[in-house]
Amino acid sequence: YRDEPVTPSLDRAPACPFDPAPSLTALRAERPIARLAAPEGAPGVWMITGYDLVRQILADPRFSSRYETHYHPLAGGHLPPAPVGDLTGMDAPQHTRFRKLLAGKFTVRRMNLLTERVTEITRERLDAMERQGPPADLVEVFTQPVPALMICELLGVPHEDRDQFQSSTRALPDAGTAEAQYAAFVELGTYLRELALAKRAKPTDDLLSDLATGGDLTDEELGGVAAFLLGAGLDTTANMLALGTFALLRNPAQLIALRADPDLAAGAVEELLRYLSVAATGMRGVLEDVELGGRQLKAGDTVVIAINAANRDPAKFSDPDVLDLRRSAAGHLAFGHGVHQCLGQQLARIEMRVAFPALLTRFPTLRLAVPAEELSLRTDPSQVYGVHSLPVTWDRR
Ligand code: HEM
Repeated sequence: YRDEPVTPSLDRAPACPFDPAPSLTALRAERPIARLAAPEGAPGVWMITGYDLVRQILADPRFSSRYETHYHPLAGGHLPPAPVGDLTGMDAPQHTRFRKLLAGKFTVRRMNLLTERVTEITRERLDAMERQGPPADLVEVFTQPVPALMICELLGVPHEDRDQFQSSTRALPDAGTAEAQYAAFVELGTYLRELALAKRAKPTDDLLSDLATGGDLTDEELGGVAAFLLGAGLDTTANMLALGTFALLRNPAQLIALRADPDLAAGAVEELLRYLSVAATGMRGVLEDVELGGRQLKAGDTVVIAINAANRDPAKFSDPDVLDLRRSAAGHLAFGHGVHQCLGQQLARIEMRVAFPALLTRFPTLRLAVPAEELSLRTDPSQVYGVHSLPVTWDRR
């Protein structure tokens, strides 16, 4: 029976919104690599939920990142190729070219400058939140603007454009209609392509100018990379901040510990990354026949990688379903692993290490303004996991 194809539900249990879908947890215990049921004639699709297997795949070039090698069981076909400039959809040697170029621009000096800015931006947003008074949607006033403004810093979006830029990014994931989302997407894409060209003509001190002037990217590639950085760096960080705050509010002892001890922030961020794993799933296409976890995978098969299940694997982390800010979460896969490991992880860490303690210290009585069960979670498995909004309130000082 162990080779019967399975159809695990990706639905999370409403009572445990931070945990992976219970069917993935069950699968990990029983068979950390499992064949998914697929229509007649479709390539083999495998669900990978065990930590060691996920890590192994991410480090193995026989598993391809190119989207067109990924058979999507829900769509019933292969994905279209990634847009120009999307590194997560490339393999070597194309990926190596982009990766080297970008890695050289995420410099220590640039990250240090960004640390200063994130502290200022965080303070400004908390001031605005305090002025506006309770209640507030924390996503609207804090967890979305901070990373959006940091992307502005990274790319060098001029100050006069930032309000418009930020409100368009807000419309991207959560705008009411598909049309509104698409309009915001087109507007931002056009804006970033034009910005990239403007940086070529008149470089300033930012990462986009560095890319525009040092390197061999075509205009199309440069615009594409700018759009990709926005896509990769905004929704992920914003949802970590929002879902992370929600998780801390649900675990008051942990919240109090973090507020009392700022030195806990770095470790706390790693544990929240592990525990929440907002970039919950990935895919790879199998390029040649491979034996993995005792199974024979064929060239043309697809693997679906449950990063969130891997990060809760008891074989790697003890009491994996407990949020424990003092544990060592080292080795977690929330930023991926191998050649595609997140290029923006230092920036993301800086943002979170500053933002969580600053928020908790400024608003010691912060609490949910609605019952937790009423929060609207981002349940679409193709999206970064998180909350659509986070209504909070606090006592005025
Ligand atoms: C790649 C997660 C923030 C830029 C990745 C990958 C993950 C990830 C899992 C690997 C994807 C794969 O293997 O296919 C996250 C999380 C973040 C975050 C959880 C926030 C907490 C950022 C930020 C930036 C960024 C702030 C930059 C502005 C990138 C880039 C890649 C990437 C450029 C592609 C690397 C490559 O394919 O070589 N991220 N990320 N990320 N991330 Fe992040």
